[in-house]
Amino acid sequence: MIKTLEWTSQGVRFIDQTRLPAEEVFVTCATYREVATAIRDMIVRGAPAIGVAAAMGIALGVKQSTAQDVAALRTEFGLICRTMGETRPTAVNLFWAIRRMQQKFDAVAAQGVHHVKVTLVEEAQKMLLEDIAANETMGRHGAALLPSSGGVLTHCNAGALATCGYGTALGVIRAAIASGKRLHVFADETRPFLQGSRLTAWELMKDGIQTTLIADNMAGAMMRQGKIQAVIVGADRIAANGDVANKIGTYSVAVLAKEHAIPFYVAAPWSTVDMNMSSGEGIPIEQRSPREVTHHAGKQVAPDGVLVENPAFDVTPNKYITAIITERGIAKAPYAESLKELSQNAVALVGARR
Ligand code: MRU
Repeated sequence: MIKTLEWTSQGVRFIDQTRLPAEEVFVTCATYREVATAIRDMIVRGAPAIGVAAAMGIALGVKQSTAQDVAALRTEFGLICRTMGETRPTAVNLFWAIRRMQQKFDAVAAQGVHHVKVTLVEEAQKMLLEDIAANETMGRHGAALLPSSGGVLTHCNAGALATCGYGTALGVIRAAIASGKRLHVFADETRPFLQGSRLTAWELMKDGIQTTLIADNMAGAMMRQGKIQAVIVGADRIAANGDVANKIGTYSVAVLAKEHAIPFYVAAPWSTVDMNMSSGEGIPIEQRSPREVTHHAGKQVAPDGVLVENPAFDVTPNKYITAIITERGIAKAPYAESLKELSQNAVALVGARR
């Protein structure tokens, strides 16, 4: 399995996703600030991976602290968490991970500096294992929804590289194929950062899964030609009403899918669901550098001075979504009700998994 990120004695180790598919290079971030930079620069990306990377960054910062007492450690911890929180605004998994580390800190603070350090390092590593388990559970839930054969379109990379392993949307595809379904994946290239061509095509081919790469503007034609039987994507934040923020271009794919009566599925761990966000309207959308649009592989592909928009994500309204697959179960419209029900399900399901 691809090791997207891992805790090592030297720091947090990432496969450098900016260099794929040309080179498989690993980088080790030796400080929490280096981890924050790796998240911002998208050496590690994808909502669940960002969350766990931030938790590991926080654990690393706390471990390296020279604070002599818990009060001083708490002050440093606050700065570390703020630094992580300022990296990327859209994926709620980042803020979920920071909150979880804060709760853990508070829970063990009374036991002293050493205990806080050990506990936070353990917690971050636990989050990595939980993410892989959630993806495998999602795979089992979602596999049944995919057709027994045919084409499945995905957008961006919601695979092993976007998580701690196995993937969300690609995890469902992997599970469906493992269960005997004969699926062919169509991967949108996902301009401008090319997560589809650089990452999704790479990891699917590594697994021997039949993959056809298409430019984003080909999706409608493929649907019209009957080549796509289902669409499945990941998510960066899911609002309480089922609106989904995901990679820019997801909304266009969802509208096209509805026009062609093709089911449109979203697969995401519960850490991506933001029950405090009533609708997609309020989800902060990251704006990235215009250079990602005006330049391709270091070469200028637009005139000097042209105005550029580069939102990294868009919001797909819930009416376009056939089902949301999570490790807690599958939500369907009306999402305000089904997601609320799943939000209350945690304890029962955690118990059932043991
Ligand atoms: O900008 P990125 O590459 O971090 O965006 C990633 C996506 O939009 C993914 O589809 C999403 O995070 C789901 S990953 C399981």
